[in-house]
Amino acid sequence: MPNSRIRLASLLHKVVSAEEAASHIKDGMMVGMSGFTRAGEAKAVPMALAERAKREPFKITLVTGASLGNDLDKQLAEAHVLSRRIPFQADPALRKAINAGEVMFVDQHLSETVEHLRTRQLGPLDVAVVEAVGITAQGGIIPTTSVGNSATFAILAEKVIIEINMSQPAELEGLHDIYIPTRRPFREPIPVVAPESRVGLPFIAIPPEKIAAIVVTSKLDSASNVLPPDAETAAISGHLMEFLKHEVKRGLLTERLQPLQAGIGTIANAVMHGFIESPFYDLTMYSEVLQDSTFDLFDADKLNFASGSSITLSKAKYDAVIPKITDYKPRLILRPQEISNHPEIIRRLGIIAINTALEFDIYGNINSTHVGGTHMMNGIGGSGDFARNAYLSVFVTKSIAKGGALSSIVPMVSHVDHTEHDVDIVVTEVGLADLRELAPRERARLIIANCVHPLYRDALTDYFERATARGGHTPHIIEEALSWHVKARETGAMGEPLHLVASA
Ligand code: COA
Repeated sequence: MPNSRIRLASLLHKVVSAEEAASHIKDGMMVGMSGFTRAGEAKAVPMALAERAKREPFKITLVTGASLGNDLDKQLAEAHVLSRRIPFQADPALRKAINAGEVMFVDQHLSETVEHLRTRQLGPLDVAVVEAVGITAQGGIIPTTSVGNSATFAILAEKVIIEINMSQPAELEGLHDIYIPTRRPFREPIPVVAPESRVGLPFIAIPPEKIAAIVVTSKLDSASNVLPPDAETAAISGHLMEFLKHEVKRGLLTERLQPLQAGIGTIANAVMHGFIESPFYDLTMYSEVLQDSTFDLFDADKLNFASGSSITLSKAKYDAVIPKITDYKPRLILRPQEISNHPEIIRRLGIIAINTALEFDIYGNINSTHVGGTHMMNGIGGSGDFARNAYLSVFVTKSIAKGGALSSIVPMVSHVDHTEHDVDIVVTEVGLADLRELAPRERARLIIANCVHPLYRDALTDYFERATARGGHTPHIIEEALSWHVKARETGAMGEPLHLVASA
C-alpha cells in the first residue's frame, strides 16, 4: 500500500481484510454504501457480507446513492441480506425479490435520501462504507467515480469503513466538489450558479477517528449495460433536435441551449448522441449520471462542461476515458447527488431535462417505474427531481415495447411517477408532442396524432372520442381506462403484435 494513498500515517494500522471490516456490520443495522449507477460502489465489504450470510443469516437496511455494479445487489439479494433497500436499484435478481415482497424497497427521489437521514426521519445510520482513491493528510476521503450520497453517509454514520481502490487512478483527485447544505432553519442558498461552479471541498471531511477500518481493493467498476443507438432512438433524437432548432428560431433558446440533463439507460444516452450532428454548440450538462454520450460530446467539441454525480461508461469508453481523465478533468465535476439533483439549482439553471418513460398516457402522465402498474423496474431515480423543476421537461420512449405487444402510449398510465403538470414534451420515434400551455383535451389530440404507433392509433382515437362524449376536463371511461393493461396481463399483448400484423 503506497503511503500516497493513505496520507494520514495514523490510519495505516487500520488496514484489515474485507471480512474483518465487514464484522462491524451486524444484524439489523442500517448501512450506507457508496455507489451510483454502477460507479464507485464499495466492492469488497458487500461481497464479504454476502459470503458471511451463507454461514450466519442476518439482515440489514442498505442505503446507497443509486444502483450498484459488480452484481452486488444480486449477491446481497440472493444471500437474503437485504430487509430494506433505499433509494434505487436496477438489478434483475433484486427486482425479483422486491416484487415477491421479500425486500422492502423505498423508491425515492434521489435528492432526498440524505435530507431524510439528516433530519432523522430515516436512520440512525450505523456504518458507512465508501470507496475512495485515497485519504488525505487530514483524513479526508477522496471518492472515486461517483459521489452519490457518500459524503453525508460518512458524516452521519457512527463508523466509517473505507475501501481504497488501487485500480482507480489517483488522478481522480480534484474531480469532486463536496458541498453539504447548511442546517435548517438558517440554511443558506446553495451557491451553484453554473454547471462549472465549484463551491465545496475536493474530499469528504470527517474526523479521522471515525474511520473504523480500511480495506484495499482493486476490482473495477462494471461496464455500463446501455445498448448502442438504433433507428428508433435516432428518430427520437432527430425529433428533439428539430424541436430545439425551432425553439431557437422562435427566440426562446440560443444555439448554446441551456444546461442539459439526461437520464439513465439506453434511450436517453442515445438521444444525447444526437447533439453531435446538431447545430448546437458550447453546450453544458448539469446532470446526474455522465454516460458515454457525455465524452463523445466532449470529443466532438460540442460540450464545454459537465457536472454530474457519477461516471458510468461502457467498457470501450472506460478504457478510452479513465486513463486520460486528467485531460477531461478541467471540464468535469462530480457532486453529491443532493446537489446534482437539487430542485433549487435545477430551477435556477433552467435545465433541459431528458428522461425516459416506460409508458405515458394520452394526457401526458408518465410511468417510469412500474410494469403493468404493479411490478417495479428500477425506480424513479432522479427523474422526478429534474422533471418537476426543469425549464423544459422532456420524456422519451419508443412508441411500442416487446415487439409491438405493448403500446407505450395508453389511455391511462397504470402508475404515475410524473404527473401531467411536470411534463412539457413527449417524444417517440413517431414524433414529438409539445404539451406546454395545452388543456388535457388538446394534449390528447396532439399525443395521439404525433406519438402513437400506427398499430394503436385507431384504438386510442376511439377511446378518446368515446371518453370525450361523456364530458369532463380530462375525459376518461374509468371502467375501461386500464383495460389495455388487463388485456396485456391476461394475453401478453395490448393489441396485435407487429409480427402478427405483418404476417396477416
Ligand atoms: N411496458 C413494459 N415494459 C417496457 C415498456 C412498457 N411500456 N417499455 C419498455 N419496457 C421494457 C423494455 O422492453 C426493456 O425490457 P428488457 O430489459 O426486458 O429488454 C426495459 O423496459 C428497458 O427498456 P429500454 O427500451 O431498454 O430503455 P432504457 O434502457 O432506456 O430504460 C427505463 C428505460 C424507463 C427502464 C429507465 O430509463 C429507468 O429506469 N428510468 C427511471 C429512472 C430514471 O429516469 N432516472 C433518470 C434520472 S438518472
